[in-house]
Parts: sequence; C-alpha cells; structure tokens
Amino acid sequence: MLLRMKPTHILHAKQFDRAQLEQLFTVAEEMEIRDKQSSLSRFLSGKMLATLFYEPSTRTRFSFEAAFQKLGGTILSTENAGLSSSAAKGETLEDVVRVVGQYVDAIIIRHPQEGAIQAASEYSPVPILNAGDGAGEHPTQAMLDLFTMKKECGQIDGLNILFLGDLRYGRTVHSLLQLLSLYQNIHVTLVSPPELSLPQELEALITKRMTVQKAASPERFMEKADVIYATRIQKERVTDPAMYERCKDSYRVDASFLNLLKPSARILHPLPRVNEVDSCCDEDDRAAYFRQVKNGLYLRMALFSSLFEERAARAAL
Ligand code: NCD
Repeated sequence: MLLRMKPTHILHAKQFDRAQLEQLFTVAEEMEIRDKQSSLSRFLSGKMLATLFYEPSTRTRFSFEAAFQKLGGTILSTENAGLSSSAAKGETLEDVVRVVGQYVDAIIIRHPQEGAIQAASEYSPVPILNAGDGAGEHPTQAMLDLFTMKKECGQIDGLNILFLGDLRYGRTVHSLLQLLSLYQNIHVTLVSPPELSLPQELEALITKRMTVQKAASPERFMEKADVIYATRIQKERVTDPAMYERCKDSYRVDASFLNLLKPSARILHPLPRVNEVDSCCDEDDRAAYFRQVKNGLYLRMALFSSLFEERAARAAL
C-alpha cells in the first residue's frame, strides 16, 4: 500500500520513503513496457482528473493529462486558472478545490504561492497533487528525476551529483534533494550564484544525510560527477531585475563542458532550458533530459496506479 491518508494528497517529497519510491519505479517500468506494447490497462475508465494551473506549464500538465488519459480516464483542464477560473472573481483556492472536488476524482494544482496548495488540500474531498508551489516543492518532478537517475546510472546509491543553477528558487531541486537523502553514500556539489544558493534549512537537513560541498563554479567537480542536474534561473521569482541579469548566464553546459565529463555521466534538466544547456549537447548520449521527459509520463502513470490502488487490475494483466 503506497499511501494511507484519506484522501491521499501528494504535497511534499518528505511524505515518501525509499520503499515507496522503489515500488513506484517498478510500476513505472511496467507502464513503459505496456505502453510500448500498446497493452496499457484502462483501469482509470470512469475516473476524471482536473488540472488547475495558475502558472505556465508544458511537461507537467501534459504528462499528468496524457498519463491519466492513456489509462482510460478523462480530464477537465484549465491552464490559465488565475484568469480563466473563478479565481479572477476572487474565489479562494480552498473554495475552488471544494467545488472542483465535487466533479472529479483527483486534482493536480500548480500555484505561484508556496504553501497554498497544502493549505487548500485540507478542504478537498479528493486527492490533491502538488505540481509546483512557488519556490517551494515539486515532488512528482523529483520522483521522475530520481527514476531517470536510476534508469540511466543503474542505481541511486553512491551517486555523485552536481547541481547547477538556481538552487534558491528551483523547487524541483528542493524536492529532489529530500528524496536523494533517502539513499546511501550520496555526494552532492551545489553550484549556484551566491544570491541563488540553497535555502539554509534545506542545506542543514541534507548535510546530515549526505556529503555536501558548495562552490561558485563547476570546473573542479565536473570530471567526477555521475549526474549534472542543471536548472534555469527562475526569472519569475527573482524580484531584482539587475540580479537576474547578473546571474542569468552564469553557467552553460556546452561542448567544452561535455569534454570534461566522464563517458558514463548524465545531464538532467527538469526543463524548460533557457541558456543553461546548449542544443549542441542534445545528440550526445549523456544528454538525458528528453528521456527524462518520457520517464515523467510513466512515473505519473505509476502514481495514478498507486493513488487509485488498481492493483487487482494490474495483476490481472
Ligand atoms: C520546472 C518547474 O516548473 O518547477 N519545470 C517542470 O515542471 N518540469 C522547472 C522550471 O520551471 O524551471
């Protein structure tokens, strides 16, 4: 049994333990095989999902929706909820989930305000999944990032991971570091402009569970890294435009960067990329970011499988 709360919200990375993650990865792998054989079970038939996005999204919304529909469910979607839902009339997020929860079986929300999704979830009659809350967390992205590391590198224990970019506002990084702390012998190097370093509480938390070093530039750490996790500067959250200009081109994964990486290294990025990863890297086997996108589809299918506990349906296949 993956999660037991009623209803089962997915709000924070810390809700998960290692066994739960491993179980999700196993189911995600099954989903991938079945998808390739065109033999996915449509166990979500009759179920409906709502996606409420108050911030832009391509991958997250589409992959949740594709996953749900490929498993037989249907969706209600609003990709610009701040303008096109009753939020524009002043309705609170609490009321929105109370109302939308009357129509659907689960709600995916992305919202600019950290903590807002958790606060609203307390009023929801159906499971709420946090698809990104401001600079807070993005737990399902972190799960698919970890799933990608496992597939690409064979195992997660022992990985040496170089985080590059905006570690202050990058919510995927916040969730991913928490999930990584469930594994053994993890070594992370945090490279960011000084203004955009990891929040102190999170740094303190992970330092108890893994080896952490910090640097302003990546050069000394590149040749040892198993994974480069690059992120964009979160322009929409940087309040000082001068700071954005100063930081925006701090790092770039390009041909000369690639030359310093081991042949087995992998480059991950939650996407969208702006300037951090040059497109000249795309054809290199070490560029895993588009495979990472595909893994998001299967991981989200696995999440739905666990959320709706359709074990019997899966076992019957
Ligand atoms: C990320 C996000 O929204 O936090 N994107 C995503 O969901 N794949 C990263 C980003 O926007 O930089």
